[in-house]
Amino acid sequence: MSNDTTLVLGATGKTGRRVAARLRLHGTQVRAASRSSRTRFDWSDPGSWDAVLQDVTAAYVVPPPVPGPVHEFVARAEAAGVQRLVLLSGRSADTWGDSTFGLDMRSAEDAVCGSALEWTVLRPSNFNQNFDEDLFHAPLVAGELTLPAGAVPETFIDVEDVADVAAAVLTETGRHAGRIYELTGPRALTFGEAVGLISRASGLPIAYKQVSPAEYTAALVEEGWGEDDAHHVAEMFVLLERRTSAETTDGVATVLGRAPRTFEDYAVRAAAAGAWRR
Ligand SMILES: NC(=O)c1ccc[n+]([C@@H]2O[C@H](COP(=O)([O-])OP(=O)(O)OC[C@H]3O[C@@H](n4cnc5c(N)ncnc54)[C@H](OP(=O)(O)O)[C@@H]3O)[C@@H](O)[C@H]2O)c1
Repeated sequence: MSNDTTLVLGATGKTGRRVAARLRLHGTQVRAASRSSRTRFDWSDPGSWDAVLQDVTAAYVVPPPVPGPVHEFVARAEAAGVQRLVLLSGRSADTWGDSTFGLDMRSAEDAVCGSALEWTVLRPSNFNQNFDEDLFHAPLVAGELTLPAGAVPETFIDVEDVADVAAAVLTETGRHAGRIYELTGPRALTFGEAVGLISRASGLPIAYKQVSPAEYTAALVEEGWGEDDAHHVAEMFVLLERRTSAETTDGVATVLGRAPRTFEDYAVRAAAAGAWRR
């Protein structure tokens, strides 16, 4: 067991809780933090930051949706003696121009890459687990996923691979310093094809329905979303249409020395765990 402590933010989330488990297994001391974790960390409460940064060697940073506070957080991390930061960013951070998504992702990256600390940035594509742990789960259980995604191919990545990469980067000191890793799955699928694989693996009739971004936004608002948030989610699909992130990358293989997990593997595992059971 190493005496070094690694701070994991977003520790109850899709990547953070998997990263924390891998680090513990590796023998690294983990400080798992979020608003609802035993170690409380809230991006909107800077008073909660210094305590979690005490005696930390490395940190896995899941930024808030509006990443302004990341700049001050990085300054506090430097002052606290943190040596390494691994930032969870997103695919297209550098190609989505002055869209809100592009600006937000680049702002968080600038905060980390502009620091004096050893840093690594992870830019994963859309997660497979959005289909069973996030936004797409409830519609799939209801039998139909309605999106403005069209025939855009997406290089979905398994969050287990993102966590494997993050844990490797956090524990292999020096090897990944100053690197930006573009992380994708092994092939691109349309959202409709992804739903088809989930339907087959689960044995459940699940349809994919194409709508316009405006219809999608209106549907989210009807479900109770705020207008701004609904527009923001719909904007992602408009940006995907630019196809600047439709190609696979060798990011997972570069870090882990193996191919990324397939979407089929994910669909089988999640279906076997009853993810979409009605
Ligand atoms: N989903 C995708 O397809 C995808 C793809 C690429 C990149 N990303 C990026 O991944 C990030 C999300 O990571 P994730 O999927 O691992 O997390 P997640 O499953 O969305 O969960 C969010 C985590 O952040 C914590 N959190 C939320 N608000 C917080 C706050 N105000 N202060 C402190 N902690 C807070 C939550 O815990 P508490 O509720 O306990 O605070 C939770 O642990 C986003 O930055 C997104 O841009 C996502």
